[in-house]
Amino acid sequence: MRHLLSIEKLSRTEMEEIWKASTILKKERRLQLKRPLAGQTWSLLFSKSSTRTRVSFEVGIRELGGQVMFLSAHEIQLGRGEPIKDTARVLGRMVHGAVIRTFAQSDVEEFAQYSGISTVNALTDDEHPCQILTDIFTFQEKRGPIEGKVVTFVGDGACNVPASWIFAAAKLNFELRIAAPKAYQPAASLLARAGGKIICMEDLKAAAGGADLFYTDVWVSMGKEAESAERIRHLAGYQINQDLIRLAKPGALVMHCLPAYRGKEITEDAFEANAGTIFDQAENRLHVQKAILSWLVQ
Ligand code: CP
Ligand code: NVA
Repeated sequence: MRHLLSIEKLSRTEMEEIWKASTILKKERRLQLKRPLAGQTWSLLFSKSSTRTRVSFEVGIRELGGQVMFLSAHEIQLGRGEPIKDTARVLGRMVHGAVIRTFAQSDVEEFAQYSGISTVNALTDDEHPCQILTDIFTFQEKRGPIEGKVVTFVGDGACNVPASWIFAAAKLNFELRIAAPKAYQPAASLLARAGGKIICMEDLKAAAGGADLFYTDVWVSMGKEAESAERIRHLAGYQINQDLIRLAKPGALVMHCLPAYRGKEITEDAFEANAGTIFDQAENRLHVQKAILSWLVQ
């Protein structure tokens, strides 16, 4: 039984297998030759908002021949306190796989353990593995192997998206710089677990020099809304703008996992100048996740 719960637990070989299948699925989308989910029903179980992840999984499951059922956690008994392990055992007897977006990483792991069906982490507070698999696929489509390159993450370095980047850096041998205020840098324990070349710095300009890729994410992740004002105050300045981009390597890419807040983590002009890449990245969620689903049911 395969699951996709984190980048931490995924090997380089598995990532490469997923990217190889993503390229084929992208190229052959119109033909829809492969239907490995035929006869299956998959549940999407979401406790947080989503546009890209929900739409790309719903479309992807259908294109692979499966049926899909969206369950908002607030509308099922889970939202009224039914334990995750009971929800898992019920769904495990009725559906063939589950895609889960929630808060605690332990909930996704418990679901995988108790359900007995393939489980996908569609974002937790700890990781966003489908996003980072897509981001690196997108980089490599445009610039070739990421090995040896410099990736500069700007903004809240302590949330799920940079955490998945951190685990990927060690496995794929690229340099990852996290430019963030001290209080928003990744936990030392996480860095120690990951290994690899991760450089955390407060000096944004130093982090930008010679970068091959700039990356940012929202300053206020889902679940952190109560800290909004404080976060905006502390993270002000940790922004991708045209002045910063000029410090990177010529031809450096700019990516954003979206949704984007203009004037906060990225300026309107920096966003629009890189919209081609950013929306390729959004589209690639579909192709890469179809490859993940195909890999899970192999
Ligand atoms: N990037 C991402 O996961 O977007 P959604 O929150 O819209 O799914
Ligand atoms: N760090 C963000 C990612 C959104 C896709 C969040 O968790 O809200």
